[in-house]
Amino acid sequence: MTSTPARPTGAMPVTVPVPVPITVPVTVHPSGPLRGTVEVPGDKSVSHRALILGTLAVGETTVEGLLEGEDVIATAAAMRAFGASVRRLGPGRWSVHGLGTGGLLEPEDVIDCGNAGTGVRLIMGMMATCPIAATFTGDASLRRRPMGRILAPLAGFGAVAAGRAGGLLPLTLTGARDPVPVTYRLPVASAQVKSAVLLAGLNAPGETVVIESEATRDHTERMLTAFGAEVSMAPHPEGGRAIRVLGRPELTPCHVVVPRDPSSAAFPVAAGLIAPGSEVTVPGISLNPTRAGFYDTLLDMGADLALENRRDASGEPVADLCARHSGALRGVAVPPERAPSMIDEYPVLAALAAYAEGDTVMRGIGELRVKESDRISAMVACLAANGVAVTEHEDGMTVHGLGPDGVPGGATVATELDHRIAMSALCLGLGAQAPVTVDDARPIATSFPGFMPIMEALGARLERTEPASAEVETAGVEA
Ligand code: S3P
Repeated sequence: MTSTPARPTGAMPVTVPVPVPITVPVTVHPSGPLRGTVEVPGDKSVSHRALILGTLAVGETTVEGLLEGEDVIATAAAMRAFGASVRRLGPGRWSVHGLGTGGLLEPEDVIDCGNAGTGVRLIMGMMATCPIAATFTGDASLRRRPMGRILAPLAGFGAVAAGRAGGLLPLTLTGARDPVPVTYRLPVASAQVKSAVLLAGLNAPGETVVIESEATRDHTERMLTAFGAEVSMAPHPEGGRAIRVLGRPELTPCHVVVPRDPSSAAFPVAAGLIAPGSEVTVPGISLNPTRAGFYDTLLDMGADLALENRRDASGEPVADLCARHSGALRGVAVPPERAPSMIDEYPVLAALAAYAEGDTVMRGIGELRVKESDRISAMVACLAANGVAVTEHEDGMTVHGLGPDGVPGGATVATELDHRIAMSALCLGLGAQAPVTVDDARPIATSFPGFMPIMEALGARLERTEPASAEVETAGVEA
């Protein structure tokens, strides 16, 4: 599009290309049966932490099975900016030469964490007790997400943040020169906040304590222990549990084997339960109890899901998952206390619930409103547009299931820069009567870069629409 604004006489008109975001719409046609075995990528939470703890250890940490999605790649780049040497040795195999807990260098440029809330929050924690400053930003989604929840406890260590109103990115964090340890009770069930505080505690003298009322994912505690930090967990007299870390340890480098991501596995598993005649196997998935709530919920719904060959891999319980379409899902009320263990799986559960008989009630999940998008309103809009009745609550939603053959489909879903909304909507379309389109599938690359080829190999009928040819827009401006 070219616009020609009025200009003062004599000024030379110049046309400059203005980049407009390229979106990649994808349509899913009713599909099935889906059959096969899929290898989902490494766990996103564990991948971020492996790079960060590798940076804080002295010497070489090696990582196997690292998720090579955009979120984690942004963390790898950030670790380089703080002085670590981070190299890719081969697919999923990475090496990090770390600097020690007090050895971070001041980045020379802005740290862009892209779409990654986990990345930016954990990295801010990591540097909050080092005498350096760093400026952080991210994409439009990340710039809308609340950072005050970590800036408050980090201020307790002595870090100072300067940024936009409401604690939004971009912001500059100046780490404490003389940090003091903190004791902090989490006001929200958030592993990101817990982890940011524990990481900050590593470079503060003495003991830092985080108290959580509900158990959230515990990868930071597990990995800190593996790297040689003194970490302990115990019930707290006033309720919940206290996690203690002793500051200034010498972290010893590790070989980290990243388990496969249960949050990514949720999509092919849900797809197998939605598309008629399907049988989908997803081997080697982490069933860490702080992450496995979605699979408990599927069993409550009567899903034909087998958790086979349970074993231990690098300290994480793993199993092979096999989902078969049985057409007999029933709606359930998900216990609100299960929320932290399946917090990222509610969007795909909402899609699946459309195919169940009866209502699926999901409450106590107000946190979904501050994820990559407001996932409650995004899924309510997605389902309603595709003919599924859904009731929105401030802290959740109730999906009024239509049974295995009842979802009309036929609409376009706004993915709101949110990978999990995009993948959930594509799963919804697999069993619908009419195709479902997502307006932009690009965000999927943040967590599950191989999602579309994997789904196609299973038998899903996906159709990409080429991005509009006008990738740049020109605007007339004055010289
Ligand atoms: C994560 C914690 C969760 C989760 C996110 C990853 C982590 O966020 O939603 O995808 O790796 O610690 P909150 O801590 O904000 O609940």
